[in-house]
Amino acid sequence: MKIFKTKKELQSYLLSCRAAGQKIALVPTMGALHEGHLSLIAEAKKLAEIVVCSIFVNPTQFNDPKDLEKYPRPIENDIALLQSAACDILFLPEIAEMYPADDSPWHIDLGELDSIWEGEKRPGHFQGVTQIVYKLFRLVAPDIACFGQKDFQQVMVIQRLIDIKKLPVSIHICPTVRNKDGLALSSRNTRLSEEGKIKALVLYRSLRYIKDHFGSVSPSQLRQNAINILLQEDGIELEYLAICESRTLQETDTIMAGNSYVALLVVWLEGVRLIDNMILQ
Ligand code: PAJ
Repeated sequence: MKIFKTKKELQSYLLSCRAAGQKIALVPTMGALHEGHLSLIAEAKKLAEIVVCSIFVNPTQFNDPKDLEKYPRPIENDIALLQSAACDILFLPEIAEMYPADDSPWHIDLGELDSIWEGEKRPGHFQGVTQIVYKLFRLVAPDIACFGQKDFQQVMVIQRLIDIKKLPVSIHICPTVRNKDGLALSSRNTRLSEEGKIKALVLYRSLRYIKDHFGSVSPSQLRQNAINILLQEDGIELEYLAICESRTLQETDTIMAGNSYVALLVVWLEGVRLIDNMILQ
């Protein structure tokens, strides 16, 4: 695996790949890699000859400086994992490489996506995400980019970015990888105690409950029942649970055949913010 720390080195190498007619797939990450990230690399490998993984803990998407500071950075382990996944290129820039002093300010109109759910709870988060992903798209010019369903709203935001900027890249959405009991893998899970990891399984149980009963009970009743399931577990604090129409992410209480729906969930446990979702139909 080649490791590049500068845009210049990366671009000149990619130029030769493109000249050789090779397709390029990009997997953007913030490191602290786990099986969820590796599933994206595996998917990217199926779709392109050259897989570029970026590891960059992007400061502009953290609205809480403590969260940024606490973000794990086990780079040696990440490199070993990427090597074993047969990733072709790791792009590992420093902050000044991505945000030079003369960088121009960034704003993109994401409409409602910027102000609901994650947008509401983490003001500025999606501006930061789109800012860095746009930089990476411009730099790598990938044919394909892989993102996880785990961050459902993020995928929609990236699709909006691609549409607005008319970028010639197609997004592949990879299913959420869970542990054997259903806990969605996340770098934040390492901050949970062993007991916390067991308590956190209630996220999956409540989402499964919604999926299993979707269509037979009204969404508002399902939501209430699922909240009751969540709150039976000591220490779980609900931030939001919403049953939404997948395209708009608007909460709904009516189900229409042919439309698709998703349940979005965020809770706090042991001071850790846990996010999950489930596609319902
Ligand atoms: P990060 O949280 O590192 O996630 C990188 C990618 O891995 C995202 O597309 C995310 O949805 C996916 N992912 C995380 N956990 C997953 C799981 N359990 N199963 C499947 N996919 C999973 O998301 C970001 O970084 C950043 O916002 C980024 C897009 C890199 C921009 O900075």
